[in-house]
Amino acid sequence: MPHLTGRSLLSLLDYSREEIEYLVDLALQLKADRAAGHRRRRLEGYTLAMIFEKRSTRTRASFETAFGEEGGHPVFLSTDDIHLGVKEDLADTARVLGRMFDCIEFRGFEQRTAEDLARYSGVPVYNGLTDLYHPTQALADLMTVRECFGSLAGRRLVYAGDGRNNVAHSLMIGCAKTGLDFVVCAPAELQPKADFVARCRGLAAETGAELLVTDEPANAVRGADAIYTDVWTSMGEEAQAGHRRQILGPYQVNEHLMAATGNDDTVFLHCLPAVKGEEVTDAVFEGPASRVFDQAENRKHTIKALMLATLGREDGQE
Ligand code: CP
Ligand code: NVA
Repeated sequence: MPHLTGRSLLSLLDYSREEIEYLVDLALQLKADRAAGHRRRRLEGYTLAMIFEKRSTRTRASFETAFGEEGGHPVFLSTDDIHLGVKEDLADTARVLGRMFDCIEFRGFEQRTAEDLARYSGVPVYNGLTDLYHPTQALADLMTVRECFGSLAGRRLVYAGDGRNNVAHSLMIGCAKTGLDFVVCAPAELQPKADFVARCRGLAAETGAELLVTDEPANAVRGADAIYTDVWTSMGEEAQAGHRRQILGPYQVNEHLMAATGNDDTVFLHCLPAVKGEEVTDAVFEGPASRVFDQAENRKHTIKALMLATLGREDGQE
């Protein structure tokens, strides 16, 4: 069993295959426990600071309910209200929070902010989305693939749309590390950077996974077990929205693209929130292949697993 006590999750790059699979396994167990009506209070007396620079529904709700269900006390700190980087520098805020809280969740713009919070607070910091990565989302996505197909290694996930956003980056790492074939299908200007792809290819080589980057959707999706998309315009990039609509039309996940997989069992995944009519049609979103609400629910179970493991509380012993 991997020992994750005291660890932050800033990027899945920092986690081994064994550690990622352990968190997915634990999350599946936690989901089953909850469905069976078992309630535990393994985080009684623990506190979580939740810092948000950007909006959130799922991530906020997942951290808050997961921590609270285990008896812990989550505290929501909007950057409209606290001194983060305004009047007080980040290192000082981090050191204060580290004295008061057992762990910190951060959602915001710069990856550097999450890294600095971890460096100066001295407690586990969980990246709840930055411009660069969304690692807790990828954990839930891997869990959902496990639920759908019973395995990770050898499955094929095709991501269509903005291939260089936080969700695409974290999925690429998560798939490479756990042995899923990963295809990024995006126009040239929205493909991930070559050095990042090379790094992930190195990880994929260790697990025997394939990592492909292409701009050609119909071929890309052939044989896919899952087709995944995300919004065309991420938070903070609103000025790009018009241009994105112009170049991303061919990458919309519609019934035609789903049929091009040649596989009747392909599932549709989306981190949500979705802009229906842009990256996905209403028919696919609401259709029989869609697993998006399982994915959303799995945010909570994977985040609970992460917090229990990094606080050394998954076995619940005193
Ligand atoms: N998927 C996701 O992170 O959703 P929220 O923005 O609602 O947290
Ligand atoms: N890429 C999206 C993900 C939202 C959960 C964004 O950053 O807005």
